[in-house]
Amino acid sequence: MDMDMHFLSGIYNKKILQSGLWLVWMCGFFLVGVSFYGTQMLKDQIKMKKPSGSSIPSITIFTAPRPFVGSIGERQTLAVRSWLGLSEHIIVVLFSQDPSVSSFATSIGPRISVETEIDFTFMGTPFFHSMVARSLSSSSDISVLIDPDTILMADFFSTLRYAHKLDQDWLLVASTFPFSLQSDDGIQKLQPFLVQEALCGEKMLIAWNNGDLPLHKGVLPPFLFGKGVHNHWLVTEALISDFRLVIDATLTVSSFYLSEPDQERSWELAGNSLLGRNYGSFSFRDPNYTNSFRLSTCGGNYLFTNTDHSAVYWQGYSRPLNLRNKSLFLSTQKELFDCVEAVKSLGGCFKREALSVTKAVTLPMSMESLLAIQADQNKTILLGIAGSSYEDMLMSWVCRLRYLQIPNFLVCALDDEVYDFSVLQGVPVIKCASPPTNISFDDCHFGSECFQKVTKVKSRMVLQILELGYNVLLSDVDVYWFKNPLDYLTSFGPGVLVAQSDEYNVTGAINLPRRLNSGFYYAHSDSATIAALGKVVQHAAYSNLSEQPSFYDTLCGEGGSYRLGDDQCLDPETNLRVHFLDRDLFPNGAYRGLWEEEDTKKACEERGCFILHNNWINGRKKKLERQVLSGLWEYDINTRMCLQSWYTTNPKSYF
Ligand SMILES: *[C@@H]1O[C@H](CO)[C@@H](O)[C@H](O)[C@H]1NC(C)=O
Ligand SMILES: *[C@@H]1O[C@H](CO)[C@@H](O)[C@H](O)[C@H]1NC(C)=O
Ligand SMILES: *[C@@H]1O[C@H](CO)[C@@H](O)[C@H](O)[C@H]1NC(C)=O
Ligand SMILES: *[C@@H]1O[C@H](CO)[C@@H](O)[C@H](O)[C@H]1NC(C)=O
Ligand SMILES: *[C@@H]1O[C@H](CO)[C@@H](O)[C@H](O)[C@H]1NC(C)=O
Ligand SMILES: *[C@@H]1O[C@H](CO)[C@@H](O)[C@H](O)[C@H]1NC(C)=O
Repeated sequence: MDMDMHFLSGIYNKKILQSGLWLVWMCGFFLVGVSFYGTQMLKDQIKMKKPSGSSIPSITIFTAPRPFVGSIGERQTLAVRSWLGLSEHIIVVLFSQDPSVSSFATSIGPRISVETEIDFTFMGTPFFHSMVARSLSSSSDISVLIDPDTILMADFFSTLRYAHKLDQDWLLVASTFPFSLQSDDGIQKLQPFLVQEALCGEKMLIAWNNGDLPLHKGVLPPFLFGKGVHNHWLVTEALISDFRLVIDATLTVSSFYLSEPDQERSWELAGNSLLGRNYGSFSFRDPNYTNSFRLSTCGGNYLFTNTDHSAVYWQGYSRPLNLRNKSLFLSTQKELFDCVEAVKSLGGCFKREALSVTKAVTLPMSMESLLAIQADQNKTILLGIAGSSYEDMLMSWVCRLRYLQIPNFLVCALDDEVYDFSVLQGVPVIKCASPPTNISFDDCHFGSECFQKVTKVKSRMVLQILELGYNVLLSDVDVYWFKNPLDYLTSFGPGVLVAQSDEYNVTGAINLPRRLNSGFYYAHSDSATIAALGKVVQHAAYSNLSEQPSFYDTLCGEGGSYRLGDDQCLDPETNLRVHFLDRDLFPNGAYRGLWEEEDTKKACEERGCFILHNNWINGRKKKLERQVLSGLWEYDINTRMCLQSWYTTNPKSYF
């Protein structure tokens, strides 16, 4: 256990986090990968399987289309039909949450399916790392990742059939090229663009066989799909990692897409560049990476050329032919020699150039615009608040909301780090109004000076949002959600602030002095609530305590003088009623020792819990450990993905 805690504290080491998110994301687990696979280097050769009948590989093509509307929809329809037309052995998986995509899939038939269980941003853009992880769990012989508007020709299938005969694990890459539709005498014609670097498409498709070796070592950063850089990153990593044979099949796979007049550049693109920038890029033709090969055809046979063109692998020869010594070539191999010369003359791709970052990743979206996008029809928003010491807790909370299909949430970030982190994780985020400047990483626990400052930001934010006409359900990110409580909470109607009780005594009143928990409450946007919250914020500003006592003392009177029965208060000045929530439904962290139960989840569900607050515990690490070990945890800190049904991982291995 000692060692385990040491490991944990290593991951969360304050200094590491301060030195940048990227380092933690990319280096921490990279090193783990190296030691496992370092011994499995490939040799510079191509091995074919012994011929065994005509086994046709099963192929799954994965992509994430945009909605099937307008010209984009037409282009995608054309593309998907071109894939399915190549072979009965090809099936297609579309990642999307858009209804137009599922109706398209239904119209096409059984060989195409739609999956929603991967990570998307709140704007509906899927994450590339999540797509790759899902594709890796496929049982098909070959998996393919492709842009949704790439049209494929028959040689795609024949190339993969050939690659399937290789007796080693491989990753195959092919650039795809833009074409435009030109109207010529009323007839639309495909017109290839003049590509400056002959074989350098911006877009590419990536395929790999279902083998034992991973594609690369290290962890794929949370790139967004379709925003550039991610393909390049994956291929570069595969080359550096040297696990698999990397094949440039651009010459044997004909693929193209209809070019759009003007591709939008967005902050998502900038984010991807920023993530990718931390890697030097390498050329396919760098002689240091001799495990990459260019595939071409010559006289109807496939031909492998290695990166510096010193050797070729040719059907029927078990050993490479050394091109440096021309006298070794028989006259009958003249054709072969010409083929190699032709391949050589075609420029290579993947230049050695640093990826450029055009914009800063933090393009703030205003609170007003995010509220308009995120709030539900009843103008209700769920507000979560987090600082960088709670990034993982925040993501577990966000993943849980995604799982429960609760889209109307917004996160307020207490510092720049958690803001950037949230943007890159596709979370709708704003910067909290005038956040405290000095948040202690590990010691911002209940009662500390830091805690007091942080909590006061919360009520100020809630007040601002109420004044904009939105109802707010504030939830700390250490609140685990079993099911959606909104219908229940809104049933109390306007003029009532519904809050969790922090009472630990199982018997007796739950509205005793200072028992109002300001980490989970629902505030309706009405004049009484706004006036009362205004008083709370005012009180907190002059108090040297946290905001929690300000809530109670303002709304329930000092010493509980405005108490009403055992579970309510009535503020005579604003006429706001406070209702303390039933603790069986909304238990705090001390109630009935639920966190100490053998099976916290079961114990809680049996009581009918909507939520369970992970409070009444001091120290961030203990809190985190308690939640992970109880299984009330939804996020994988290693891969930076929400835990998914298809994704097998064990978060308990963190400890
Ligand atoms: C490639 O190898 C050469 C000679 O061994 C070396 O000088 C060079 O730094 C290497 N390049 C990379 C990118 O590793
Ligand atoms: C080329 O191969 C021939 C026959 O094996 C050999 O005699 C000759 O030395 C080789 N030349 C070079 C430059 O390796
Ligand atoms: C809005 O409120 C009504 C009435 O309280 C409720 O029936 C409905 O489900 C709410 N809509 C949403 C999107 O929550
Ligand atoms: C931040 O906290 C540290 C230690 O708790 C303290 O030394 C420093 O003065 C604080 N800075 C500000 C600006 O409050
Ligand atoms: C719990 O509340 C009861 C009254 O309902 C009281 O008698 C008892 O002393 C309380 N226990 C604690 C530990 O405060
Ligand atoms: C907080 O303020 C109260 C009076 O409002 C005072 O009695 C108390 O000593 C103060 N505590 C601290 C830690 O400053």
